[in-house]
This record gives sequence, C-alpha cells and structure tokens, in this order.
Amino acid sequence: MAKVLVSDPIDQAGIDILSQVATVDVKIGLTPEQFVQAIPEYDALMIRSGSRITKEIIEAGHQLKIIGRAGVGVDNVDVPAATRQGIVVVNSPEGNTIAAAEHAIAMMLALSRYIPDANASVKRGEWDRKTFVGAEVYKKTLGVVGLGKIGSHVATAAKAMGMKLLAYDPFISTERAEQLGCRLVEVDILLQEADYITLHIPKTPETTHLINAEALAKMKPNARIINCARGGIIDEAALAEALKAGKIAGAALDVFEEEPLKESPLRALGKEIILTPHLGASTTEAQVNVAIDVAEQIRDVLLGLPARSA
Ligand code: NAD
Ligand code: MLT
Repeated sequence: MAKVLVSDPIDQAGIDILSQVATVDVKIGLTPEQFVQAIPEYDALMIRSGSRITKEIIEAGHQLKIIGRAGVGVDNVDVPAATRQGIVVVNSPEGNTIAAAEHAIAMMLALSRYIPDANASVKRGEWDRKTFVGAEVYKKTLGVVGLGKIGSHVATAAKAMGMKLLAYDPFISTERAEQLGCRLVEVDILLQEADYITLHIPKTPETTHLINAEALAKMKPNARIINCARGGIIDEAALAEALKAGKIAGAALDVFEEEPLKESPLRALGKEIILTPHLGASTTEAQVNVAIDVAEQIRDVLLGLPARSA
C-alpha cells in the first residue's frame, strides 16, 4: 500500500480520503533533518503553511510522486526542485478564498474601531470610551491591490458597505474591474487616494517590499493598510517607522516576513496595529474544503490518474 506523510494539521476529512488508498502518517513539527530522514519511505506528502519543503527534502524523497499544499500558496515548496524530480505539486486555489476575504474585512473593521485593544481593556477591568473613538468605512476609499479571487470578494463586500473602490492589478481588464465597481488605477494613485489599502497579491520578486518606505510616504496620514496575502510584500521595518511617526494611521497584518513572528518593532506598537498569526484560512469551512480538495488530488495520483498541478 502507498504511504502518505501529513506534516501539518489537516482536517480529518482529508485524512479519511487518503486512508482509502494509502497508509497515512501524521507527523507534525518535524525538523528539516527529521524530514530528510523520514521522507524516503513516502509516496506522497501533504502540507499546509507550517512545513518548508526544501530541495534537500525533495531530493531525499526517492519515492515521492506528489506534494499537496492544503491552501493556495506553494511558496513553501521548492517547486523547480520537485519538477526536476518529476514530482507533481498541487494546491487548493479556491478552498479558502472566502475565509481569507472575510479575514481581511474583519481586520479592516477591527482596525477602524480598535476592537482588539478595546476588548483587552474591558477584560482588564477598565471602562475607557475616549481612547477608542474610531472611524467609519462608509464612503471611504478602499484600494484593492490584486483583484483576483480574494480581492474580488473583498471588493464586493466593501461595495456593499458603501465604500468607494480603487484597484491596482496589471493583469486585470478595465471591464472586469468596472464589473466589480472598481476604478482601475496605477499603484501610485491608489497609494495617494485610498483611506484603506488591502493586499491580495502573490509574493513575487515584483511584489516583495512593494509597500516600502517610499510607498508608505505616498499614503494619506489617515490611511490604514491590511495584509492578509503574504509576508514580505510590506517592508515591516519601514511600516513600524511609519506608524511610530504617525505617517499613516494603522495596519493589520496576518502574514509576516518570518513566521512565526519573533522579535519585531511591530509588537511594541499600540492600538494602531493588529497582528494575527496567519489565520486567513483558519475557518472550519475552509479547512474542510482545502483538505478534501488536495486529498482527492493526491488519491487520484496514487491511483495512477492525472493530476491538476499548481
Ligand atoms: P489570485 O491568483 O486569485 O489573485 C491574485 C491577483 O494578484 C491576480 O488577479 C493577479 O493578476 C494579481 N497580481 C499578480 N501580480 C501582481 C502585481 N505585481 N501587482 C498587482 N497585482 C498582481 O490569488 P488569491 O487566491 O486571491 O490569493 C491572493 C493572496 O492571498 C496570495 O498571496 C495567497 O497566497 C494569499 N492567501 C493568504 C491566506 C492567508 O491565510 N492569509 C489565505 C489564502 C490566500
Ligand atoms: C494559503 O496559501 O492558502 C494560506 O496561506 C493559508 C494557509 O495555508 O494557512
């Protein structure tokens, strides 16, 4: 029987599908060395964002046929190394779209009304209503960077809340943007005009530090930025400086240059920042969706059927 290694927490629905055709071992928290030692006996590997699948691990996976990422981004897999070895890499491009979009909207509203800090103050026994006077999003301008699956859903929800919409996405047509109620603009215009900016782009060489000190300097003093896409799209040191100096009003981050977030100037900031531990896809519904989606693809490959590669 084939053997599958699951190295991150995956919903049981996915394990049940894999178990139809393979022996499934769940081993969470393997070090890179333990991974290299364990991988030779496995035909398939299923991961989330917690495992980094390097060239060394792939090269040790002599029997590996498929690596499945129960999520969107395959940026934690060395895909060129896998391809060289004839290993298919698959993902779940749509299973957590709604979860990630709703997290971005939740971050925008929580940031505007200082909900995390207000909640913490009441739990400490305080009753401070002056410190937490917020801002409305109604009639404000939201700049959506990346009008793909998640960005489109965020735009639709924001429009329903009465927001005006700008979008920057060089790969999307003006018609598509207009269908979603967005004015398609260059990134500088978006930075200058938006009251809220939400990032929904992949991390690529072009998007790494897209939001750097120069970009932050173009934003309005009342602007708030939300990143539920990928760490490293925002230069965290520059963001911390901009927030400290009051150059922008706030930021909400779900993803970080290094995860888990360790020592960081962002952690010393106050109610103007919200930090969540990569929770964009963390809903029961999304975890069932991505687990089933990717487990079915792994099962099919183990049965000799064709795969849909990421
Ligand atoms: P998608 O592929 O549907 O959309 C991405 C959009 O970005 C596309 O429309 C593309 O044209 C655009 N784009 C690409 N390069 C760009 C650039 N240089 N400038 C502007 N736009 C550019 O992807 P998606 O499913 O909407 O996911 C968006 C991001 O969210 C990805 O980075 C994904 O990994 C991340 N994500 C995070 C979580 C989380 O847990 N926080 C969950 C799901 C997805
Ligand atoms: C993804 O790429 O789907 C997200 O980062 C979510 C995750 O895997 O937790």
